Amino acid sequence: MAKSNVYLFANWKMYLDLAESEKLAKEVGKLGKKMPNKIKMTIFPSALAFGTVIKTLKNSVIAVGAQNVHQEDKGGYTGEVSAVMYKNAGAKYALVGHSERRHLFHETNHEVKIKMEAILNNKLIPVLCVGETQKERDSVKEKEVVEIQLRSALDGLKWGKNPQLIIAYEPVWAIGTGNHCDPSQAQTMCELALKMATHLAKDVKIVVLYGGSVNSDNVSEFIKQPNINGILVGGASAKLDSWSKIVHNAS
Ligand code: PGA
Repeated sequence: MAKSNVYLFANWKMYLDLAESEKLAKEVGKLGKKMPNKIKMTIFPSALAFGTVIKTLKNSVIAVGAQNVHQEDKGGYTGEVSAVMYKNAGAKYALVGHSERRHLFHETNHEVKIKMEAILNNKLIPVLCVGETQKERDSVKEKEVVEIQLRSALDGLKWGKNPQLIIAYEPVWAIGTGNHCDPSQAQTMCELALKMATHLAKDVKIVVLYGGSVNSDNVSEFIKQPNINGILVGGASAKLDSWSKIVHNAS
């Protein structure tokens, strides 16, 4: 069945400098004018480019989000940017628990939880990333791992008015490798994540995305799946050519 909303989330990671971010945001803004209403696009620029991208996309339908937040509002936390600072600068969403944060920066499930709280306290919409490593999949532990990640992030959270949650199922082995998850396997995991999250976050509007080596050739296979409402893209979102093709093939 055709979906009423398709979420296309672009995680620019640390791929673009300030000038490159501004240039791509201008082009993406033009793309936004031609997109069907069902496409809900969000850009996650670097902290450095955040303000510039917000300004560039001010009058567009495209939202902007934070790649990472610090849980405290203010203080001596060199190099960090808080959820409240992103909110005040115009962010709508914040990524939390991205596998690069978990694995390269050793973020624990506990840290993910306190960041979730900061995100909700500041009325941002969390994009909670979960997913198993290759080793965990090889030992058929993917469901268990995702369940633990979801449970520890969501259990006992206080949701405000009109609560919304985005879950991105991103198997670690598929991120940035060119080796995407089989769409039907991704569907199985997204369905499971939706069921678990619905149980843990009652009365919350939940949207589930797939991420990991999405490109213009495979995007439509993912968004065809019944429990995949969109995609979170890294590498292919940071270039105009590949991102335009993804938007076209998802429309
Ligand atoms: P990728 O990254 O599209 O480059 O695999 C996805 C992500 O990390 O969100």
